[in-house]
Amino acid sequence: MLVLGIDTSCDDTSASLLSFDDGHKPSILSNVVSSQNHIHDKYGGIVPELASRRHMEMIWPVVKEALDGTGLDKLDAIAVCHGPGLIGSLIVGTAFAKSMSLSSGTPFIGVNHLEGHLLSALLTEPQAPFPMLSLVVSGGHTSLYMVRDFGDYEELGRTRDDAAGEAYDKVSKLLGLGYPGGPEIDRLSGTGNRKAIRFPRAYMKDTFDFSFSGLKTAVRLAVEKDPALKPGDVAAAFQDSVVDVLVRKTRLALEKTAIKSVSLSGGVAANSELRERMRQMCDEVGAGFYPPPVALCTDNGAMIALAGYHRFRVGQTSDLGINPKAHLPIV
Ligand code: KG4
Ligand code: ZN
Repeated sequence: MLVLGIDTSCDDTSASLLSFDDGHKPSILSNVVSSQNHIHDKYGGIVPELASRRHMEMIWPVVKEALDGTGLDKLDAIAVCHGPGLIGSLIVGTAFAKSMSLSSGTPFIGVNHLEGHLLSALLTEPQAPFPMLSLVVSGGHTSLYMVRDFGDYEELGRTRDDAAGEAYDKVSKLLGLGYPGGPEIDRLSGTGNRKAIRFPRAYMKDTFDFSFSGLKTAVRLAVEKDPALKPGDVAAAFQDSVVDVLVRKTRLALEKTAIKSVSLSGGVAANSELRERMRQMCDEVGAGFYPPPVALCTDNGAMIALAGYHRFRVGQTSDLGINPKAHLPIV
């Protein structure tokens, strides 16, 4: 089976072609991502209007490259992310996928962006066992889910304020670094001493919710109070706080649920320290750790194609009348 997946939920235009064998094992035939970082960099964050305009320019070149000559008549389904995300960005991908479906008669499936992230571990580890804990950490989300099966998800906790990636981006701006901030801080952390400053950790007892806005404010106050602080130390101490909280909460959830596998996705899942410490923690508690490769952690069409395939194979398709939604609950 051949499935095309399209994601334009935020600032990356992405399309991917996946083929599946009879055992549901995916092969990634293409995964094309056109980044908009060079457009939003000077603003220190995503400008929604510029994002949707760039999606309009890039959607056809990206889809064309992903198809690489494969005719629409060869596709079994077209899956597109229809939310949650930036509404102007979502409209571009959804309208494009609907027109492809309408003109070719290929079945159309609207996919929740978060479902794509939750299942992305299966792109390279199709045997990752359910139930699984899945931590989605990006610029827009920080949520911990229990994935019992395809289509059976429970959100255990979510951020009450900033997403972890948003905190990275804001601290990066504060330190005069570029956008996106995550890779810059990740790199700078390697030059600093994480013990030089002690930033707070919002563990918040008896909940799997997160909070990162207090940390961001603590970093701002520390830098204002002592401008001589070394940026490397600030970056390392900030990252230490974020990683401590993410790993501790995931560990508590493993202990409470007795689940034995963990996956990690979203842009912050590219973070080297988070990946390493999450792996160490999983080893300690005897859980399997299934982080997708970095290119499949950030927004991509492959995870949308995969989630779409698992809906399509059980007979679910979407009506062409569905509209993109900025807020779209997964459960
Ligand atoms: O999933 P993503 O590509 O887009 C959405 O937000 O949906 O995630 C982007 C976020 C940004 O906030 C960026 O700063 C963060 O992921 N990020 C990182 C790293 N690479 C990207 N955060 C920490 N460490 C990284 N290496
Ligand atoms: Zn995402």
